[in-house]
This record gives sequence, C-alpha cells and structure tokens, in this order.
Amino acid sequence: MALEHSVLDRYSEGAESRQPDLCCPVDYDASLLALLPQEIIEKDYGCGDPSRYVREGDTVLDLGSGSGKICYMAAQLVGEQGYVIGIDMNDDMLDLAKKYQVEMAEKLGSNRVEFVKGLIQDLAVDLAAVDEQLSKTPVSDADALLRLQTWQQTQAITSPLIKNNSIDLVVSNCVLNLVQDSDKTKMIDEIFRVIKPGGRVAISDIISDELVPDHLKADPTLWSGCISGALQEQKMLDAFVKAGFVAVAYDKWEAEPWQVVEAIEFRSVTITAIKPQDESCLDVGHAVIYRGPYSEVYDDEGHVYPRGQRIATCARSFDLMTSGVYKDDFIGITPAELKPAVNWCKPAGTIRPAGETKGASHTGMESVENCC
Ligand SMILES: C[S@@+](CC[C@H](N)C(=O)[O-])C[C@H]1O[C@@H](n2cnc3c(N)ncnc32)[C@H](O)[C@@H]1O
Repeated sequence: MALEHSVLDRYSEGAESRQPDLCCPVDYDASLLALLPQEIIEKDYGCGDPSRYVREGDTVLDLGSGSGKICYMAAQLVGEQGYVIGIDMNDDMLDLAKKYQVEMAEKLGSNRVEFVKGLIQDLAVDLAAVDEQLSKTPVSDADALLRLQTWQQTQAITSPLIKNNSIDLVVSNCVLNLVQDSDKTKMIDEIFRVIKPGGRVAISDIISDELVPDHLKADPTLWSGCISGALQEQKMLDAFVKAGFVAVAYDKWEAEPWQVVEAIEFRSVTITAIKPQDESCLDVGHAVIYRGPYSEVYDDEGHVYPRGQRIATCARSFDLMTSGVYKDDFIGITPAELKPAVNWCKPAGTIRPAGETKGASHTGMESVENCC
C-alpha cells in the first residue's frame, strides 16, 4: 500500500510541475509532437515510443496515459475511423490530459480521445463510478464496505470500463513497472482480455537484467521512479507468453541502461505481441517455409519450422506466419485446390510435400495422412 501511495503522490507532483528524474530521453516523431500543447510535451514521463505501432482505424488503449501525450499522438495516426482511450488512476494526471481535450479535438477535426479513471490491473472497474458511488454512500463501517465491494463486482461484470475483445492495440509508456508484483499477472491477463483476437500489444517499459532484491523493491523512491518495480528481462517476455500472447518479442532494446543500481542494469525496451485469433485451427492444405538464417525456429504455440522445409500449417497459423511480425521470415505456400477443412491434429513439424500442395492431379504426389 505504501508503494501505491508513493506512485500516486509522485505523479500528482508530476502533473503539477515537470519532474526531470521521471523520464528517460525519447526520440518521439517530431511531426506528431507539433500538434501537442507544450505542457503535455514537457510533462512526459515515458521511456519509449509505442505510438510508432499505431495503424489507421485502430481502437487504441493507452495504459497509464499520464498527460495524454501518447494518446494525442496516436489520435493523429488512427484517423477519423479510429479511437483512443487513455486510462490512468491519478486524478491530477487525468485533469491535465483532459485540460487539452477540446483544443486537441478542434486540431484533430473530431473528438476521438477519451480519458477514463481506472487501474490497469483491473480494466473492468470504473473508478469514476466508484468515486460517485462513494460520494452518494460513504463507507462508514464494514457492512457498507461489503456492499461497496458487491456493487463494484456487479459493475465490473455488467458494465466493464474496458470491454472484452474491444481493442486493436494496447500501448503503454513506462507504467507496467509501477504495478505491484502481486498484481502483475492479473494486469497482463487483463490486457489479453480486452484485446480483440488478432489484436496487438506495443509496450515501452523498463526491465532489469537481474532479479531485483526486496530491499530495492521496498524503496518508494526507486519504485515510483520506474526502477525497482521492473520485471527481469526474461520474466517480462515469459509473462506475456503465459497470458496467451504469441509472437512475443523485444522490438526495441536500449543498449545503454537508463539507471544502474547496485550493479543491476535498468533499461528501456519495447515489447510487441499478438493475441491469437480464436477461430479453430482448420487444415485446408497450406504450408510455410522458414527462410533461415537459423537452422530451425519454434513459435509461441510450440510449432517447429526447420529451415527450408515445407511445413504443413492450419489456415489460422498460415495467416499469422505470413503477415505481421513473421512475414519476412516465412514463405507462404497456398494449395492449388483447397482441401475439405479438417481440425488440425498433426504433430508439430509435419512436412507437406510439394506434390500435395500442387493438387491431386499432380503426378507423383505424396499425401500427408489426415489424422482427424
Ligand atoms: C511514468 S508515468 C507515464 C505517463 C505516460 N505514459 C507518459 O508517457 O508520459 C506513469 C503513469 O501511470 C499512472 N499509473 C501508475 N500506476 C497505475 C495503475 N496501477 N493504474 C493506472 N494508472 C497508473 C500514473 O498515475 C502516471 O500517470
């Protein structure tokens, strides 16, 4: 609880006046900054630039939106058809971001940015609604507390602040490290819940090269300064894989640490990942060839791709391997004739001979047995 208060207090100060200790230097796209009010640019407490991953038409959720800088940058990239939601727990930061909403809507040509009050580890709970409920029914005893908790659980189910499968891209800039360790798994599960199948993650954050000892974690200045709450570099990626994401990667990795404390390096990175489509894995005869340069690679679903071999894939995996982050590494082989769809149940690494992909009429075809 003391750490949570230190985060609240520190970012209230950050909303009031610029705190130079709270950010690392970031090379933002100057053309996107040009539209932003100077105060928003100055009160930047980020450590990377996840706005680079925004596409036209996206619905974007920015976790820990602070002054709104990434939201207002993203709003220029999503265009008329897109939408941007910034979520933060701190009223002072929310007030700062909202202060420029009308001005930015005029500059953008429409009001496509919204700021909401919530915790990033519990994206269903609407903290503005909780504030309103508390003002109507203050909590004065244990019974009232239980009633509030029941009301909150109902609100989260019946009208979640951020709905299931509603977001194309979740971004964040230097916030995940501020969430209590005991809530970090829940936070990543929540990110998974709100992203649409096929949706993406682009998160800039601080990681550590070694596990951070408890005495550093207990230091409120190091914690609220985006240092000692950092996940260790391997644990960060593992946490996203465990939540169900695929194509989990460090897209950006600052070679130079931002801070070194007791010989532990804390550096800025950007993590990218994809939520898999939730459709069944149906085999209609596709294959992919891994180009190299490694002798073989595995994906996050346990499939193996030896270099140069035609590996049978279901239609869902085919789409994933031949688009987005994997597309430069794989060659897609579409069958001449689509086979009747069967549920996928071949072992990982099953070879699909060239003859099979060329169609039944091809002489010398070697067929891969369908096992379902
Ligand atoms: C380091 S600042 C980053 C702000 C912004 N992303 C930027 O690039 O300038 C962290 C922000 O996350 C917010 N924050 C920290 N923990 C949070 C949590 N558990 N839920 C929601 N917001 C949180 C803070 O209030 C603060 O505005």
